[in-house]
Amino acid sequence: SENGTSGRGALIVFEGMDRSGKSTQARRLLNHINATTKHGAILQPFPDRNEPIGQLIDRYLKREIDFSEKALHLAFSANRWQKEPLILETIDKGVDVICDRYAFSGVAYSMAKGLDRSWVRQSDVGLPRPDIVLYFEVSPEVAKSRGGFGEERLEKEELQRNVAKEMQGLRGENWIIINANNDEDTVERDVRIAYENIIKTKELGKLTE
Ligand code: TMP
Ligand code: MG
Repeated sequence: SENGTSGRGALIVFEGMDRSGKSTQARRLLNHINATTKHGAILQPFPDRNEPIGQLIDRYLKREIDFSEKALHLAFSANRWQKEPLILETIDKGVDVICDRYAFSGVAYSMAKGLDRSWVRQSDVGLPRPDIVLYFEVSPEVAKSRGGFGEERLEKEELQRNVAKEMQGLRGENWIIINANNDEDTVERDVRIAYENIIKTKELGKLTE
């Protein structure tokens, strides 16, 4: 494989608010990697609404069923654990994995709703640690202007503001801040630059408390 020094794929995470453009850009990066490399990439959205637990989450988000806040948190986390074997196998084959949201959404949304920091972090400890987190920073005005906002549960302005605040506290040294107020082509260029500069450790790490 021509994928870096270690031969393994990279784990790339897109995070950010609803309407920050991360799903569009995650797809664009997927297409770019598949068009320009031999190793290729797969796209893994979280929540993954196709998987059994993800189907329940989907129904919750569409206001069809209810969850207690802690049960919901664990469902989002279980939804990621369900995909852990696939992520590890894919990375092992030298293929990149692009996640549209990950454990940082899990922690930030649940903390914004008032759950305890150490409790919410626990259920994701041991999941594969991303090589890079692309954090899409968007102003509330721009996000609001993009339409569709407010259709699903959790797409509420005040909650979104609190989530953004909690996300600040999760930033690590592998985070890259993307100015998501820019036009799509500018954002795409910034994402590609970040992709070209990923520094991979020999082995994929794990999330810690
Ligand atoms: P989506 O719009 O990216 O499909 O995500 C659906 C909602 O789920 C979104 O408001 C963010 C929220 N979410 C959590 O609350 N916890 C999580 O762990 C994840 C992955 C998403
Ligand atoms: Mg959404």
